Amino acid sequence: MIVLGIETSCDDTSAAVFNGKSLLANVISTQLVHRNFGGVVPELASRSHIRLILPVIRQALDQAGLQRSHIEGIAVTYGPGLAGSLLVGLSVAKGLAQALEVPYIGINHLEGHIWANRLDNERLAPPFIVLIASGGHTQLVLVESWGEYQILGRTVDDAAGEAFDKVAKILDVGYPGGPAIEKLAKDGDPDYIRFPRARLKAAGPYDFSFSGLKTSVLNHVQSIGREQTRIHIRDIAACFQEAVTAVLVDHTLRAAQEHQISQICLAGGVAVNKFLQQAMIHAACRSNKHVFWPTAVLCTDNGGMIARAGYFYLKKKQKSSFRLSPVPALNF
Ligand code: KG4
Ligand code: ZN
Repeated sequence: MIVLGIETSCDDTSAAVFNGKSLLANVISTQLVHRNFGGVVPELASRSHIRLILPVIRQALDQAGLQRSHIEGIAVTYGPGLAGSLLVGLSVAKGLAQALEVPYIGINHLEGHIWANRLDNERLAPPFIVLIASGGHTQLVLVESWGEYQILGRTVDDAAGEAFDKVAKILDVGYPGGPAIEKLAKDGDPDYIRFPRARLKAAGPYDFSFSGLKTSVLNHVQSIGREQTRIHIRDIAACFQEAVTAVLVDHTLRAAQEHQISQICLAGGVAVNKFLQQAMIHAACRSNKHVFWPTAVLCTDNGGMIARAGYFYLKKKQKSSFRLSPVPALNF
């Protein structure tokens, strides 16, 4: 079955083709316009999706060596995400499905991130624990079987990627913040200062909180002033990255230990971070667990992961109604 995957939940316009065995194409057009604003501007994002979505789909089909008539099913992100952005992808998916007389299915963006692991590792089989860390979400999920997910923990305030982006803004090193902070942190002193690791008494044992850490970085920068911040920018980046990573690794390993799960997967944009990958491997090795993460292009938002998730449901003859609307705050 040839499935076209469409992803437009935030600022990446993406279309991919999956044939049941491999990804034949995964075209991602990242909207650069937001860099001028230090974050995603929803109105600009949806306008860009409108401009880009059909050329991106065309390019994906060209790369796959296929024509529209070869498409046998369509998968599209219907939430969570920006309302206007989701609406563009969903409307195009519905229109194409109707015109081509093929089924279509709405996919939860976070489930897509989980399936990205399977795209890169066909032998991956549940049960496993996956840490989804992106710009909008930080969730710890127990995958009991494909399609059955138990949420063990989530962020009570900022997402991990959002914390990277906000700290990058404080340090004035550009957007998106993750890659910029990781680069600076490489040459920084991780012992320069100890930023707090949130302990949440009121929340669940695996819940996350990053807004206190961000405030702590802001307070530090304000207390030492502009010149000292410039001198210690690499050290601050390293200590911040260390604090985020420590919490992500601690929660994930504890969850794996307590649920007796031996496989750990990473997903979402923050999973690209090499410091996090190495820290997770290091901790997992000590408790005899295996860690896996997808290649960078599959960690960040892409249509391939949506096509892969959609294939699973479409093969089981599940499909969405044409009444389906975008759900910006879709739960998982
Ligand atoms: O999954 P994604 O592409 O989009 C969302 O669904 O949010 O994740 C984007 C997030 C951004 O916050 C970005 O700063 C972060 O992933 N990110 C990173 C790195 N590369 C991207 N965070 C830490 N280290 C990185 N190397
Ligand atoms: Zn995402």
